[in-house]
Amino acid sequence: MCGIMGFSGSGEAKQKIIEGLYSLEYRGYDSAGITVGNGETLQTVKCKGRVSLLDEKTASIADDCFFGIGHTRWATHGEPSERNAHPHSSESVTLVHNGIIDNYLEIREALSHEGYSFKSETDTECIVHLLDKEYKKHHEPWAAINSVISSLKGAFALAIIFHDRMGEIWAVRRNNPLILSCADGSSYLASDIPAVLRYSKSIVRLADDEIACLKAGAVIPYDKSGMEKSVKFETVSWDFEMARKDGYEHFMLKEIHEQPEAASRTVKPYISTSGLPTLEKIGISNKLLSEFDGVSIIACGSAYHAGLIGKNLIEKMAKIPVFVTLASEYRYDPPVVTNNPLIIAISQSGETADTLAALKLAKESGAPSLGIINTVGSAIARESDYVLYTNAGPEISVATTKGYTTQLSAMFLLAAALAHAKGNITDAFAKDFLNILSNEVPSAISNVISRRSEIGMLAKEIVDKSDLYFIGRGSDYAASIESSLKLKEVSYIHSEAYAAGELKHGTLSLITDGVPVVALACDEKYHDKMIGNIRETRARGAFVILVCKDNMKDPDLYSDRVFLIPKIDGIFTPFVSVVFSQLLAYETAFLRGFDIDRPRNLAKSVTVE
Ligand code: G6P
Repeated sequence: MCGIMGFSGSGEAKQKIIEGLYSLEYRGYDSAGITVGNGETLQTVKCKGRVSLLDEKTASIADDCFFGIGHTRWATHGEPSERNAHPHSSESVTLVHNGIIDNYLEIREALSHEGYSFKSETDTECIVHLLDKEYKKHHEPWAAINSVISSLKGAFALAIIFHDRMGEIWAVRRNNPLILSCADGSSYLASDIPAVLRYSKSIVRLADDEIACLKAGAVIPYDKSGMEKSVKFETVSWDFEMARKDGYEHFMLKEIHEQPEAASRTVKPYISTSGLPTLEKIGISNKLLSEFDGVSIIACGSAYHAGLIGKNLIEKMAKIPVFVTLASEYRYDPPVVTNNPLIIAISQSGETADTLAALKLAKESGAPSLGIINTVGSAIARESDYVLYTNAGPEISVATTKGYTTQLSAMFLLAAALAHAKGNITDAFAKDFLNILSNEVPSAISNVISRRSEIGMLAKEIVDKSDLYFIGRGSDYAASIESSLKLKEVSYIHSEAYAAGELKHGTLSLITDGVPVVALACDEKYHDKMIGNIRETRARGAFVILVCKDNMKDPDLYSDRVFLIPKIDGIFTPFVSVVFSQLLAYETAFLRGFDIDRPRNLAKSVTVE
């Protein structure tokens, strides 16, 4: 998964492309490159490392270059290096690629026999040589691209320059994102919306295998027979400011602060004027909801963790079984589910390759599917029969925060809608539940955020540790899993989440003097049992940080530090405890001096398997 940017206008191509690449770095950042042209020649510059390095290396490129393409890479085939960095070129063509070509070895072998020599280890290089071959045969871009994509298996988004067609950038995509845009005599192409937002809010999304050409101030899509067709722009509601840091030191911190508003923005559109849950707006009637006899949730990463909390809730409230499966497992070993299930794919980006593939497979059963997605018009949204947009706004930090919280909000909303439609909860209960979800939860999250400095003090206590354990029971256990992921991905401290009652079956052997244990004991239902489990760790020397409400009896007696979360009904506490953990992870990573928004080896949008 990588970031692509393209531009065609009247000058300053290098600046426009580099600016775009900076905002796409969340997609990958191990190497970068650019090709720009001034009408006579093309110049290519590449580097191993960040876009900032490319920025320095391209300082001498003149402003008269008026078109070009750029790329920020997350290595899949071949190590991060200048040689493997994009753009890649053949005699007649230069291109950048995001995605993975499954049959690249066969193509590479065939092209090698025909005399093409390969300079990199990338799968991309087979596309560029194949395109060179087809262009020399057809002498025309559309036919050449069309012929190449019919031989490609896998996923791709491509931005292409034909060396004899200065000023034009050709684009095509399959199962990977690419948007086009134009304004004020300039045209843009990018892997994601924030890269073009500062120039235009009008965008065009290409369908799978649709080919388009970008010229200064024009976007020209082609139909399946290679004829130009009319272009349909859509207007995005995000503005550039929304996609920037807003004065915060890191996107992660900014996005943590956006959670109270985002959480209520997710649910409010689905509360009827009488205060009851309704999904009619997205085409799901109460009758349809009442007929589901099970739910099958597919997701990856934090979205999967939101699904785990959803399982707890939906099973309790709607009284139907819920299966939560990691999409990467589902796509090869789908579980046996009920007769009439609702399939749910949860994804912030809407582009995660495993989730998309698992959803496609799940749909073969004929069961209806609901996408819980943040990015409007993304691949998973398009693949889903119904879509509930989480409305979190753009999320840039690789470690998701508001993306996760809004997925959680959607899970709670769905549990209420299913339970209400099935007659398992009364109107009064449903109204009260939604009131807590849309009002009390956001203010409880705000309360925790406002105590950042208190959490910063706790971060100082764990900053030098090499291992840390989160423990909890019930939804506190599900919240522990997300908490642990957050800590490890940004602070690089090894962390595990354990169901508190399970410690004695092995992990307790790792609890020795000074090992930190963060005990989430927010749900009063488990207080007594949690106290027992905490004591077990403390007896082995653990340094216990206890997160609970003020209704826990004598917390100081069996913990080293206590963080009191605001009063809120037990089942809603994951919203609050996870926000505590997000800040603990952020502050710890900050103290350790790591690149918080772009943790090593990770990427925001995982469009490869
Ligand atoms: C990546 C991100 C995670 C995210 C996961 C699933 O690993 O770093 O934060 O939870 O992908 O992404 P999705 O866009 O499908 O929610």
